[in-house]
Amino acid sequence: MAILTPFGGRSIQNPAPNTGFAQRSFPEIGHMRVGVTGGAGYIGSHTVLALLEAGHEVVIVDDFSTGDRQNLQPSVTLVEGDFKKPEVIQNFLSHGLDAVFHFAALKAAGESMEQPEAYSAANVRGTLFLIENLSRAKVRNVVFSSSAAVYGEPQYLPVDESHPLVPINYYGFTKLCIEQNLAWFSRLGRIRYASLRYFNAAGYNRAGKIKGLERNTANLLPLVMEAAAGMRPELLVFGDDYQTRDGTGIRDYVHVEDLADAHVRALEFISDNNKDITVNLGSETGMSVMEMIKTTERISGRPVPSRIVARRDGDPPELIASSALAHQLLGWKARYSDADTIISSMWNLYRDKK
Ligand code: WQD
Repeated sequence: MAILTPFGGRSIQNPAPNTGFAQRSFPEIGHMRVGVTGGAGYIGSHTVLALLEAGHEVVIVDDFSTGDRQNLQPSVTLVEGDFKKPEVIQNFLSHGLDAVFHFAALKAAGESMEQPEAYSAANVRGTLFLIENLSRAKVRNVVFSSSAAVYGEPQYLPVDESHPLVPINYYGFTKLCIEQNLAWFSRLGRIRYASLRYFNAAGYNRAGKIKGLERNTANLLPLVMEAAAGMRPELLVFGDDYQTRDGTGIRDYVHVEDLADAHVRALEFISDNNKDITVNLGSETGMSVMEMIKTTERISGRPVPSRIVARRDGDPPELIASSALAHQLLGWKARYSDADTIISSMWNLYRDKK
């Protein structure tokens, strides 16, 4: 049902959550009304599914600049627009939120070096505007999408949360800058927060509940899928002369359903314990570019045309998380982040595209 809200944003509402999942019980958390910025985007939409499954109500604010309407679940309330606009944030906050998950941001590290203005506006200024408004509206619980990019060049592996914070791209700096502001707003008694430092987010909902593919991404796995599906002529492999087992870059790919689960647990943790947390979310396993290509070829039965080119600036040879702290505090461990599960969940969506 489409309804008009008092503040002019358009909302859709349906009474009953219908995620298609068996309900998992989270007896410790009371029911909450959770606002989600960027809830139609890639990680946001998967997290919305997990929130609904855990019995929470969800209010999404999204301007569909990169999000996809196909990712909206029928039971969510939608505030359509850019949360950085006063009338949109006012509408969003009028829903009486207990917590906000903040996903709406730009995320391409390379692009952030070419267009720092856009990253400053969206990731820094936009998020500070959100935090100021949450503070004034007394929305206590904030769950923030941070990134392994806050660490910069790994000085040791696996990277834990005590690793020095020396971002080597502006994108990573924007995330660090917000983490520092969250810490201050918490210290001043305004909010409590979870900052979740994702490693390489990958995969799609295994039951096919999320249908909107990410567009124009610079990340490896969507490009591997596009090459396998014939949507692009070839994949460029950025360097095969690293000191790694096959010469190509090694990363810690973490399934987006594992990330979504961690978000719900993080909300439970900060609200139950009245404490902030900053944790890595990774699979603690490294996979090379070549291994991901081979896994895709095996699972899809299609070739992945590829060509070795020069290394990409700023790419470390290897990046692997320690997620021991998330395990300890949240009881979280990646369950679906093996290469086969990640790749097959993606191929299920890409196989029919061209
Ligand atoms: C993975 C591997 C590339 C593309 C980035 C951001 C990081 C985080 C996640 C948000 C590397 C290789 C890639 C291609 C390739 N973002 N590659 N050909 O660079 O590890 O991390 O996304 O938080 O901040 O920097 O991810 O997917 O771009 O690359 O060979 O066309 O694939 O060199 O080894 P990255 P990625």
